Amino acid sequence: MKMDVLLGLQWGDEGKGKVVDVLAPQYDVVARFQGGPNAGHTLEFDGIKHVLHQIPSGIFRENITNIIGNGVVLDPVVLKKEIDGLQKFNIAFKKNLFISKKATIIIPTHKLLDAAYEKSKGDKKIGSTLKGIGPTYQDKIGRVALRVGDILASDFDEKYQALVEKHKTILSFYEFDLGQLPELEKVFFDAVEFFRGLNLVDSEYEVNGFLAEGKKVLAEGAQGSLLDIDFGSYPFVTSSTTMAAGACTGLGVPPSKIGEVYGIFKAYCTRVGSGPFPTELFDEDGEAMRKEGNEFGSTTGRPRRCGWIDLPALRYSIMINGVTQLFMMKGDVLNIFKEIKVCTHYQMPDGSTVDRLTYELDSSDIKPVYKTVPGWHQSLEAVESYDGFPNELKDYVTLLEKELGVPIKLVSVGPDRKQTILR
Ligand code: GDP
Ligand code: IMO
Ligand code: MG
Repeated sequence: MKMDVLLGLQWGDEGKGKVVDVLAPQYDVVARFQGGPNAGHTLEFDGIKHVLHQIPSGIFRENITNIIGNGVVLDPVVLKKEIDGLQKFNIAFKKNLFISKKATIIIPTHKLLDAAYEKSKGDKKIGSTLKGIGPTYQDKIGRVALRVGDILASDFDEKYQALVEKHKTILSFYEFDLGQLPELEKVFFDAVEFFRGLNLVDSEYEVNGFLAEGKKVLAEGAQGSLLDIDFGSYPFVTSSTTMAAGACTGLGVPPSKIGEVYGIFKAYCTRVGSGPFPTELFDEDGEAMRKEGNEFGSTTGRPRRCGWIDLPALRYSIMINGVTQLFMMKGDVLNIFKEIKVCTHYQMPDGSTVDRLTYELDSSDIKPVYKTVPGWHQSLEAVESYDGFPNELKDYVTLLEKELGVPIKLVSVGPDRKQTILR
Protein backbone atom coordinates (compact mmCIF):
# COMPACT_ATOMS: atom_id res chain seq x y z
CA MET A 1 0.00 0.00 0.00
CA LYS A 2 1.11 3.60 -0.56
CA MET A 3 0.71 6.49 1.86
CA ASP A 4 -1.43 9.43 0.75
CA VAL A 5 -0.42 12.93 1.79
CA LEU A 6 -2.67 15.90 2.47
CA LEU A 7 -1.14 19.38 2.41
CA GLY A 8 -2.05 23.03 2.58
CA LEU A 9 -0.93 24.83 -0.59
CA GLN A 10 -1.10 28.39 0.75
CA TRP A 11 -0.01 29.97 4.05
CA GLY A 12 -1.79 27.50 6.33
CA ASP A 13 -5.34 27.34 7.70
CA GLU A 14 -6.71 26.09 4.40
CA GLY A 15 -9.06 23.69 6.21
CA LYS A 16 -6.81 20.64 6.55
CA GLY A 17 -8.43 19.52 9.81
CA LYS A 18 -11.89 19.50 8.27
CA VAL A 19 -10.81 17.50 5.23
CA VAL A 20 -8.80 14.93 7.20
CA ASP A 21 -11.91 14.40 9.31
CA VAL A 22 -14.04 13.98 6.17
CA LEU A 23 -11.59 11.54 4.51
CA ALA A 24 -10.74 9.65 7.70
CA PRO A 25 -13.32 6.84 7.27
CA GLN A 26 -11.42 5.80 4.12
CA TYR A 27 -8.21 5.34 6.16
CA ASP A 28 -6.86 3.12 8.94
CA VAL A 29 -4.14 5.51 10.08
CA VAL A 30 -3.72 9.30 10.23
CA ALA A 31 -0.20 10.61 10.90
CA ARG A 32 1.26 14.05 11.53
CA PHE A 33 4.78 14.47 10.16
CA GLN A 34 5.96 18.02 10.95
CA GLY A 35 5.12 21.19 12.83
CA GLY A 36 3.78 21.18 16.35
CA PRO A 37 1.50 23.32 18.50
CA ASN A 38 1.75 26.19 15.99
CA ALA A 39 -0.92 24.27 14.05
CA GLY A 40 -4.61 24.69 14.78
CA HIS A 41 -6.78 22.25 12.83
CA THR A 42 -10.52 22.74 13.16
CA LEU A 43 -13.09 19.95 12.88
CA GLU A 44 -16.83 20.52 13.13
CA PHE A 45 -19.51 17.86 13.51
CA ASP A 46 -22.61 17.18 15.62
CA GLY A 47 -22.75 20.90 16.40
CA ILE A 48 -19.37 20.88 18.16
CA LYS A 49 -16.21 22.62 17.00
CA HIS A 50 -12.86 21.07 17.97
CA VAL A 51 -9.44 22.63 17.42
CA LEU A 52 -6.52 20.18 17.42
CA HIS A 53 -2.93 21.38 17.72
CA GLN A 54 -0.74 18.31 17.96
CA ILE A 55 -3.12 15.38 17.89
CA PRO A 56 -3.88 14.09 14.36
CA SER A 57 -7.36 14.84 13.02
CA GLY A 58 -8.37 11.17 12.87
CA ILE A 59 -8.70 11.00 16.65
CA PHE A 60 -12.49 11.25 16.74
CA ARG A 61 -12.92 8.10 14.64
CA GLU A 62 -12.99 4.99 16.78
CA ASN A 63 -11.10 2.66 14.48
CA ILE A 64 -8.33 4.93 13.34
CA THR A 65 -4.79 4.80 14.62
CA ASN A 66 -3.26 8.26 15.03
CA ILE A 67 0.48 8.74 14.89
CA ILE A 68 2.63 11.72 15.84
CA GLY A 69 5.75 11.16 13.75
CA ASN A 70 9.44 11.84 14.31
CA GLY A 71 9.33 15.08 12.28
CA VAL A 72 7.00 16.76 14.77
CA VAL A 73 8.13 19.07 17.59
CA LEU A 74 5.97 18.26 20.55
CA ASP A 75 5.07 20.29 23.61
CA PRO A 76 4.11 17.90 26.46
CA VAL A 77 2.18 20.70 28.16
CA VAL A 78 0.00 21.35 25.12
CA LEU A 79 -0.45 17.61 24.55
CA LYS A 80 -1.63 17.01 28.11
CA LYS A 81 -4.04 19.92 27.83
CA GLU A 82 -5.41 18.59 24.54
CA ILE A 83 -5.87 15.08 25.90
CA ASP A 84 -7.46 16.37 29.12
CA GLY A 85 -9.84 18.50 27.07
CA LEU A 86 -10.91 15.51 24.97
CA GLN A 87 -11.50 13.10 27.88
CA LYS A 88 -15.22 13.86 27.89
CA PHE A 89 -15.51 12.48 24.34
CA ASN A 90 -14.42 8.99 25.46
CA ILE A 91 -11.49 8.76 23.10
CA ALA A 92 -9.38 5.62 23.47
CA PHE A 93 -5.99 7.36 23.56
CA LYS A 94 -4.26 4.23 24.85
CA LYS A 95 -5.48 2.30 21.81
CA ASN A 96 -5.49 5.00 19.13
CA LEU A 97 -2.61 7.41 19.72
CA PHE A 98 1.07 6.58 19.14
CA ILE A 99 3.95 8.99 19.49
CA SER A 100 7.39 8.64 17.95
CA LYS A 101 10.24 8.37 20.43
CA LYS A 102 12.22 10.30 17.83
CA ALA A 103 9.94 13.35 17.87
CA THR A 104 11.60 16.43 19.38
CA ILE A 105 10.42 17.94 22.66
CA ILE A 106 9.64 21.62 23.12
CA ILE A 107 10.82 22.71 26.57
CA PRO A 108 9.78 25.94 28.34
CA THR A 109 12.94 27.84 27.43
CA HIS A 110 12.26 27.20 23.72
CA LYS A 111 9.15 29.33 24.10
CA LEU A 112 11.09 32.03 25.92
CA LEU A 113 13.73 31.99 23.17
CA ASP A 114 10.98 32.33 20.54
CA ALA A 115 9.72 35.44 22.35
CA ALA A 116 13.25 36.86 22.78
CA TYR A 117 14.13 36.36 19.09
CA GLU A 118 10.87 37.91 17.93
CA LYS A 119 11.28 40.91 20.23
CA SER A 120 14.82 41.49 18.99
CA LYS A 121 13.58 41.60 15.38
CA GLY A 122 11.35 44.62 16.07
CA ASP A 123 9.20 45.45 13.03
CA LYS A 124 10.92 42.66 11.05
CA LYS A 125 9.39 40.02 13.31
CA ILE A 126 8.14 36.79 11.72
CA GLY A 127 4.82 36.89 13.53
CA SER A 128 5.58 33.50 15.11
CA THR A 129 2.90 31.77 17.12
CA LEU A 130 5.49 31.82 19.98
CA LYS A 131 5.02 28.11 20.63
CA GLY A 132 8.79 27.49 20.55
CA ILE A 133 8.81 25.94 17.08
CA GLY A 134 11.85 27.73 15.58
CA PRO A 135 14.18 27.33 18.61
CA THR A 136 13.25 23.64 18.98
CA TYR A 137 13.97 22.81 15.32
CA GLN A 138 17.20 24.84 15.68
CA ASP A 139 18.27 22.55 18.54
CA LYS A 140 17.24 19.48 16.56
CA ILE A 141 19.41 20.49 13.61
CA GLY A 142 22.13 21.57 16.08
CA ARG A 143 22.03 18.03 17.52
CA VAL A 144 21.40 19.11 21.10
CA ALA A 145 17.63 18.68 21.37
CA LEU A 146 15.72 16.36 23.69
CA ARG A 147 13.61 13.70 22.08
CA VAL A 148 10.50 11.94 23.33
CA GLY A 149 12.49 8.75 24.02
CA ASP A 150 14.75 10.72 26.36
CA ILE A 151 11.97 11.15 28.90
CA LEU A 152 12.12 7.39 29.58
CA ALA A 153 15.82 7.46 30.46
CA SER A 154 17.10 7.90 34.03
CA ASP A 155 19.30 10.85 33.03
CA PHE A 156 16.46 12.93 31.56
CA ASP A 157 16.66 15.60 34.26
CA GLU A 158 20.41 16.10 33.68
CA LYS A 159 19.96 16.29 29.92
CA TYR A 160 17.16 18.78 30.46
CA GLN A 161 19.30 20.94 32.77
CA ALA A 162 22.23 20.94 30.34
CA LEU A 163 19.99 22.23 27.55
CA VAL A 164 18.36 24.82 29.80
CA GLU A 165 21.79 26.16 30.80
CA LYS A 166 22.63 26.71 27.12
CA HIS A 167 19.32 28.49 26.62
CA LYS A 168 19.85 30.67 29.70
CA THR A 169 23.14 31.93 28.26
CA ILE A 170 21.38 33.00 25.08
CA LEU A 171 18.44 34.49 27.00
CA SER A 172 20.78 36.55 29.17
CA PHE A 173 22.35 37.96 25.99
CA TYR A 174 18.85 39.14 25.03
CA GLU A 175 18.34 40.42 28.62
CA PHE A 176 15.22 38.27 28.81
CA ASP A 177 13.46 38.10 32.18
CA LEU A 178 13.40 34.50 33.42
CA GLY A 179 11.00 35.19 36.29
CA GLN A 180 8.26 32.93 34.87
CA LEU A 181 10.58 29.95 34.27
CA PRO A 182 10.09 28.08 37.61
CA GLU A 183 6.31 28.05 37.17
CA LEU A 184 6.62 26.95 33.51
CA GLU A 185 9.00 24.16 34.55
CA LYS A 186 6.60 22.88 37.20
CA VAL A 187 3.82 22.53 34.63
CA PHE A 188 6.29 21.02 32.15
CA PHE A 189 7.49 18.28 34.50
CA ASP A 190 3.89 17.40 35.45
CA ALA A 191 3.14 17.01 31.75
CA VAL A 192 6.28 14.92 31.18
CA GLU A 193 5.15 12.54 33.91
CA PHE A 194 1.78 12.20 32.18
CA PHE A 195 3.55 11.76 28.83
CA ARG A 196 5.48 8.73 30.13
CA GLY A 197 2.16 6.87 30.32
CA LEU A 198 1.35 7.32 26.61
CA ASN A 199 2.25 4.93 23.76
CA LEU A 200 5.80 5.95 22.86
CA VAL A 201 7.05 3.93 19.89
CA ASP A 202 9.48 3.78 16.97
CA SER A 203 6.71 4.96 14.69
CA GLU A 204 8.60 4.37 11.44
CA TYR A 205 8.14 0.64 12.12
CA GLU A 206 4.46 1.14 12.84
CA VAL A 207 3.78 3.17 9.70
CA ASN A 208 5.76 0.91 7.37
CA GLY A 209 4.22 -2.13 9.07
CA PHE A 210 0.72 -0.79 8.43
CA LEU A 211 1.55 -0.14 4.77
CA ALA A 212 2.99 -3.65 4.40
CA GLU A 213 -0.24 -5.10 5.84
CA GLY A 214 -2.23 -3.25 3.19
CA LYS A 215 -3.62 -0.66 5.61
CA LYS A 216 -4.41 2.84 4.35
CA VAL A 217 -2.34 5.67 5.81
CA LEU A 218 -3.02 9.39 5.43
CA ALA A 219 -0.24 11.86 6.28
CA GLU A 220 -1.73 15.12 7.62
CA GLY A 221 0.36 18.19 6.84
CA ALA A 222 0.48 21.23 9.07
CA GLN A 223 1.01 24.85 7.96
CA GLY A 224 1.23 25.26 4.17
CA SER A 225 3.71 25.10 1.29
CA LEU A 226 4.24 28.85 1.25
CA LEU A 227 5.47 28.58 4.86
CA ASP A 228 7.98 25.83 3.98
CA ILE A 229 11.50 26.40 5.32
CA ASP A 230 13.06 25.99 1.84
CA PHE A 231 10.36 27.08 -0.59
CA GLY A 232 8.22 29.46 1.45
CA SER A 233 8.54 33.23 1.64
CA TYR A 234 11.78 33.05 3.67
CA PRO A 235 12.45 34.25 6.34
CA PHE A 236 8.71 34.65 6.96
CA VAL A 237 8.17 30.91 7.18
CA THR A 238 7.93 28.18 9.77
CA SER A 239 10.95 26.00 10.56
CA SER A 240 9.89 22.68 9.04
CA THR A 241 9.44 20.98 5.68
CA THR A 242 5.75 21.48 5.11
CA MET A 243 5.74 19.99 1.61
CA ALA A 244 5.11 16.39 0.51
CA ALA A 245 8.79 15.44 0.90
CA GLY A 246 8.43 16.25 4.63
CA ALA A 247 6.02 13.34 4.95
CA CYS A 248 8.88 10.98 3.99
CA THR A 249 11.44 12.38 6.43
CA GLY A 250 8.86 13.08 9.13
CA LEU A 251 7.51 9.53 9.20
CA GLY A 252 10.28 7.39 7.74
CA VAL A 253 8.32 6.43 4.63
CA PRO A 254 10.28 6.13 1.36
CA PRO A 255 9.36 8.38 -1.61
CA SER A 256 8.45 5.26 -3.62
CA LYS A 257 5.63 4.66 -1.12
CA ILE A 258 3.84 7.98 -1.64
CA GLY A 259 0.46 7.62 -3.37
CA GLU A 260 -2.02 10.46 -3.81
CA VAL A 261 -0.97 13.99 -2.89
CA TYR A 262 -4.06 16.01 -1.94
CA GLY A 263 -3.50 19.77 -2.19
CA ILE A 264 -5.90 21.97 -0.24
CA PHE A 265 -6.52 25.62 -0.95
CA LYS A 266 -9.03 28.26 0.01
CA ALA A 267 -11.15 29.74 -2.79
CA TYR A 268 -9.30 32.93 -1.85
CA CYS A 269 -6.15 33.47 0.21
CA THR A 270 -5.21 34.24 3.81
CA ARG A 271 -2.06 34.64 5.81
CA VAL A 272 -1.45 35.21 9.52
CA GLY A 273 1.84 36.70 10.67
CA SER A 274 4.26 38.82 8.64
CA GLY A 275 5.67 38.41 5.15
CA PRO A 276 4.82 38.95 1.50
CA PHE A 277 1.25 38.45 0.29
CA PRO A 278 0.88 39.78 -3.27
CA THR A 279 -2.94 39.66 -3.47
CA GLU A 280 -3.62 41.01 0.02
CA LEU A 281 -6.63 43.34 0.21
CA PHE A 282 -6.58 46.38 2.44
CA ASP A 283 -10.06 47.56 1.46
CA GLU A 284 -13.62 46.67 2.41
CA ASP A 285 -13.47 43.48 0.28
CA GLY A 286 -10.66 42.17 2.51
CA GLU A 287 -12.62 43.15 5.60
CA ALA A 288 -15.74 41.41 4.24
CA MET A 289 -13.76 38.22 3.52
CA ARG A 290 -12.36 38.20 7.06
CA LYS A 291 -15.83 38.64 8.52
CA GLU A 292 -17.60 36.14 6.25
CA GLY A 293 -14.82 33.55 6.54
CA ASN A 294 -14.35 34.12 10.27
CA GLU A 295 -10.67 34.55 9.50
CA PHE A 296 -9.14 34.65 12.94
CA GLY A 297 -6.28 32.31 13.88
CA SER A 298 -7.29 28.93 15.37
CA THR A 299 -4.16 28.94 17.57
CA THR A 300 -3.56 32.59 18.39
CA GLY A 301 -6.90 34.30 17.60
CA ARG A 302 -5.05 36.89 15.49
CA PRO A 303 -7.00 38.36 12.54
CA ARG A 304 -5.87 36.72 9.31
CA ARG A 305 -4.85 38.89 6.38
CA CYS A 306 -7.17 38.23 3.41
CA GLY A 307 -6.91 38.53 -0.37
CA TRP A 308 -7.93 37.06 -3.74
CA ILE A 309 -6.71 33.70 -4.98
CA ASP A 310 -3.13 33.68 -6.27
CA LEU A 311 -2.62 31.24 -9.17
CA PRO A 312 1.17 31.67 -9.63
CA ALA A 313 1.59 30.77 -5.95
CA LEU A 314 -0.76 27.78 -6.25
CA ARG A 315 0.99 26.52 -9.40
CA TYR A 316 4.28 26.72 -7.52
CA SER A 317 2.92 24.69 -4.60
CA ILE A 318 1.42 22.12 -6.98
CA MET A 319 4.79 21.79 -8.72
CA ILE A 320 6.94 21.26 -5.63
CA ASN A 321 4.49 18.82 -4.08
CA GLY A 322 3.43 16.81 -7.12
CA VAL A 323 -0.23 17.38 -6.24
CA THR A 324 -2.54 14.77 -7.84
CA GLN A 325 -5.93 16.07 -6.58
CA LEU A 326 -7.06 19.50 -5.49
CA PHE A 327 -9.63 20.30 -2.81
CA MET A 328 -11.13 23.79 -2.77
CA MET A 329 -12.20 25.03 0.65
CA LYS A 330 -14.47 27.82 1.87
CA GLY A 331 -16.25 28.31 -1.46
CA ASP A 332 -19.23 29.68 0.51
CA VAL A 333 -17.20 32.65 1.77
CA LEU A 334 -17.18 34.09 -1.77
CA ASN A 335 -21.03 34.07 -1.82
CA ILE A 336 -20.95 37.71 -0.78
CA PHE A 337 -19.18 38.99 -3.90
CA LYS A 338 -20.84 40.07 -7.14
CA GLU A 339 -17.46 39.79 -8.85
CA ILE A 340 -14.45 37.68 -7.95
CA LYS A 341 -10.85 38.35 -8.87
CA VAL A 342 -8.31 35.71 -9.80
CA CYS A 343 -4.62 36.64 -9.89
CA THR A 344 -3.15 35.03 -13.00
CA HIS A 345 0.25 36.80 -13.17
CA TYR A 346 2.34 39.45 -11.46
CA GLN A 347 3.37 42.72 -13.09
CA MET A 348 6.96 43.82 -12.51
CA PRO A 349 7.99 47.50 -12.04
CA ASP A 350 9.29 47.56 -15.67
CA GLY A 351 5.85 46.55 -16.93
CA SER A 352 6.72 42.95 -17.79
CA THR A 353 4.62 40.12 -16.40
CA VAL A 354 5.81 36.96 -14.66
CA ASP A 355 4.05 33.90 -13.35
CA ARG A 356 6.88 32.44 -11.27
CA LEU A 357 7.83 32.82 -7.62
CA THR A 358 11.52 33.42 -8.19
CA TYR A 359 14.19 34.22 -5.60
CA GLU A 360 14.25 37.83 -6.80
CA LEU A 361 10.51 38.32 -6.50
CA ASP A 362 9.79 40.91 -3.87
CA SER A 363 6.11 41.36 -3.38
CA SER A 364 6.52 45.05 -2.56
CA ASP A 365 7.59 45.63 -6.20
CA ILE A 366 4.96 43.57 -7.92
CA LYS A 367 1.36 44.12 -8.78
CA PRO A 368 -1.03 41.21 -9.16
CA VAL A 369 -2.70 41.00 -12.58
CA TYR A 370 -6.32 39.96 -12.17
CA LYS A 371 -8.94 38.32 -14.29
CA THR A 372 -12.39 39.30 -13.02
CA VAL A 373 -15.17 36.72 -13.14
CA PRO A 374 -18.83 36.94 -12.15
CA GLY A 375 -19.68 35.74 -8.64
CA TRP A 376 -22.65 33.46 -7.88
CA HIS A 377 -23.80 35.86 -5.18
CA GLN A 378 -26.16 33.45 -3.43
CA SER A 379 -26.17 31.11 -0.48
CA LEU A 380 -24.85 27.57 -0.97
CA GLU A 381 -26.65 26.27 2.09
CA ALA A 382 -29.15 24.15 0.16
CA VAL A 383 -26.55 22.72 -2.22
CA GLU A 384 -26.13 18.95 -1.88
CA SER A 385 -24.24 17.99 -5.02
CA TYR A 386 -21.99 19.50 -7.65
CA ASP A 387 -24.92 19.55 -10.09
CA GLY A 388 -26.73 21.87 -7.70
CA PHE A 389 -23.96 24.48 -7.80
CA PRO A 390 -24.80 27.83 -9.37
CA ASN A 391 -23.29 28.08 -12.87
CA GLU A 392 -20.88 30.84 -11.84
CA LEU A 393 -19.41 28.59 -9.13
CA LYS A 394 -19.05 25.72 -11.62
CA ASP A 395 -17.31 28.16 -13.99
CA TYR A 396 -14.98 29.28 -11.17
CA VAL A 397 -14.03 25.66 -10.43
CA THR A 398 -13.52 24.91 -14.14
CA LEU A 399 -11.39 28.03 -14.61
CA LEU A 400 -9.13 27.11 -11.68
CA GLU A 401 -8.81 23.53 -12.87
CA LYS A 402 -7.80 24.72 -16.33
CA GLU A 403 -5.28 27.21 -14.96
CA LEU A 404 -3.83 24.78 -12.43
CA GLY A 405 -3.85 21.62 -14.54
CA VAL A 406 -5.03 19.35 -11.70
CA PRO A 407 -8.62 18.15 -11.08
CA ILE A 408 -10.57 19.70 -8.21
CA LYS A 409 -12.17 16.67 -6.59
CA LEU A 410 -13.77 18.24 -3.53
CA VAL A 411 -15.42 21.57 -2.85
CA SER A 412 -16.12 22.60 0.73
CA VAL A 413 -19.08 24.90 1.30
CA GLY A 414 -19.15 25.25 5.07
CA PRO A 415 -17.22 24.27 8.20
CA ASP A 416 -19.30 21.20 9.06
CA ARG A 417 -18.26 17.68 8.05
CA LYS A 418 -21.48 17.44 6.02
CA GLN A 419 -20.89 20.64 4.03
CA THR A 420 -18.57 18.88 1.63
CA ILE A 421 -19.26 18.22 -2.05
CA LEU A 422 -17.31 15.49 -3.84
CA ARG A 423 -16.90 15.54 -7.60
P1 GDP B 1 -6.32 24.15 9.09
O1 GDP B 1 -5.25 24.71 9.95
O2 GDP B 1 -5.88 23.99 7.67
O3 GDP B 1 -6.92 22.87 9.62
O4 GDP B 1 -7.48 25.22 9.07
P2 GDP B 1 -8.07 26.03 10.35
O5 GDP B 1 -8.90 25.10 11.14
O6 GDP B 1 -7.00 26.76 11.04
O7 GDP B 1 -8.93 27.14 9.62
C1 GDP B 1 -9.97 26.82 8.76
C2 GDP B 1 -11.24 27.46 9.31
O8 GDP B 1 -12.23 27.45 8.30
C3 GDP B 1 -11.85 26.70 10.48
O9 GDP B 1 -12.49 27.61 11.32
C4 GDP B 1 -12.87 25.79 9.81
O10 GDP B 1 -13.93 25.43 10.67
C5 GDP B 1 -13.35 26.66 8.71
N1 GDP B 1 -13.77 25.97 7.47
C6 GDP B 1 -13.26 24.86 6.90
N2 GDP B 1 -13.87 24.63 5.72
C7 GDP B 1 -14.77 25.61 5.55
C8 GDP B 1 -15.70 25.92 4.51
O11 GDP B 1 -15.79 25.28 3.48
N3 GDP B 1 -16.46 27.06 4.71
C9 GDP B 1 -16.38 27.82 5.82
N4 GDP B 1 -17.15 28.89 5.89
N5 GDP B 1 -15.52 27.55 6.82
C10 GDP B 1 -14.74 26.46 6.67
P1 IMO C 1 -1.97 25.29 10.46
O1 IMO C 1 -1.43 23.89 10.54
C1 IMO C 1 -1.17 29.48 9.64
C2 IMO C 1 2.79 31.01 10.68
C3 IMO C 1 2.86 32.02 11.81
C4 IMO C 1 4.09 32.80 11.38
C5 IMO C 1 4.98 31.73 10.79
C6 IMO C 1 6.02 31.19 11.75
O2 IMO C 1 -3.06 25.56 11.42
O3 IMO C 1 -2.30 25.65 9.06
P2 IMO C 1 5.97 29.63 13.89
O4 IMO C 1 5.09 29.65 15.10
O5 IMO C 1 5.88 28.37 13.12
O6 IMO C 1 7.38 30.04 14.20
O7 IMO C 1 5.39 30.81 12.95
O8 IMO C 1 4.13 30.68 10.38
N1 IMO C 1 2.10 29.75 11.05
C7 IMO C 1 0.88 29.42 10.63
N2 IMO C 1 -0.02 30.12 9.91
N3 IMO C 1 -1.45 28.23 10.01
C8 IMO C 1 -0.57 27.50 10.72
O9 IMO C 1 -0.74 26.19 10.99
C9 IMO C 1 0.66 28.11 11.10
N4 IMO C 1 1.73 27.72 11.79
C10 IMO C 1 2.62 28.72 11.75
O10 IMO C 1 1.71 32.81 11.86
O11 IMO C 1 3.74 33.69 10.34
MG1 MG D 1 -4.97 26.28 11.32
